[in-house]
Amino acid sequence: MQNNSRFQDQVAIVTGAGSGIGGSTAKLLARDGARVLLVDINQADVEVVASEIREEGGTASVAVSDVSIEEQVQRAVAQAVSEWGSVHLLVNNAASFVQKGVDATVEEWCKPWKTNLLGAALFTRFAYPFMRESGAGAIVNVASTSGLAGEANYATYNSSKAALLLFTQCAAVDLGLHNIRVNAVSPGVTVTPGLRAAIKRSGSTYEEFERTWPEKQCLRGLCQPEDVAQSIAFLLSQDARCITGANLVVDVGLMAKK
Ligand SMILES: NC(=O)c1ccc[n+]([C@@H]2O[C@H](COP(=O)([O-])OP(=O)(O)OC[C@H]3O[C@@H](n4cnc5c(N)ncnc54)[C@H](O)[C@@H]3O)[C@@H](O)[C@H]2O)c1
Repeated sequence: MQNNSRFQDQVAIVTGAGSGIGGSTAKLLARDGARVLLVDINQADVEVVASEIREEGGTASVAVSDVSIEEQVQRAVAQAVSEWGSVHLLVNNAASFVQKGVDATVEEWCKPWKTNLLGAALFTRFAYPFMRESGAGAIVNVASTSGLAGEANYATYNSSKAALLLFTQCAAVDLGLHNIRVNAVSPGVTVTPGLRAAIKRSGSTYEEFERTWPEKQCLRGLCQPEDVAQSIAFLLSQDARCITGANLVVDVGLMAKK
């Protein structure tokens, strides 16, 4: 177990912590001293990540909650406060990957917007009063390079991430008054169970993807969840104390290359 204490005595909530980037972030924050509430709709997966944290000597609790349901979000925040007294750090990472174009149905629009935007907004709303009470706080919203440009048949997902980026800036304005920083991290392609499922849905294989995709990036190689977790942790830490309303793109140079 890494013994960095940059988040000692801090209480963190990470949504979508049962897999991929959320799981890696929860582990990193716990290694760096935070007590972490892991939120996910998938109980089996999130319990595994929480157990791994405890085995490493970290402090973790689980809330099985859907980020898009107000009462469940309120209950999850209350759980962190009742267990550990406050909330200082929040990572809005859970996402729906419904990717449809202009023919999307109402349901196909609602799923990603409710999970990716409303979920982040609800957690922010219920968590920030505790950050304000303790004099400071930091929030990171996990957006995507998909929120920075158009793509065929991705309108539902990409627009939800673009909205999340603007929500990040608006929340940074509102919460700056209370010494709470709000930033976004926009991963490019990152090797997670979510990515593997998307490749499968597209009819391709991971091996083919691994062979062809890196040519689109400035650097070869693919981003791992731990790489994104490091950027999230940086923005949550005091090293980023002058950064708010920003979007840190972690994409191996995908957006830089034409
Ligand atoms: N993997 C990538 O290539 C990539 C690229 C850009 C952005 N992102 C973003 O990074 C974040 C994490 O992605 P990932 O690839 O690690 O995903 P993942 O599918 O591996 O994990 C997502 C987790 O969120 C949980 N979740 C989904 N809906 C939820 C809900 N309504 N309430 C609570 N939990 C819910 C899932 O159960 C799962 O455990 C997402 O915001 C995603 O949009 C990922």
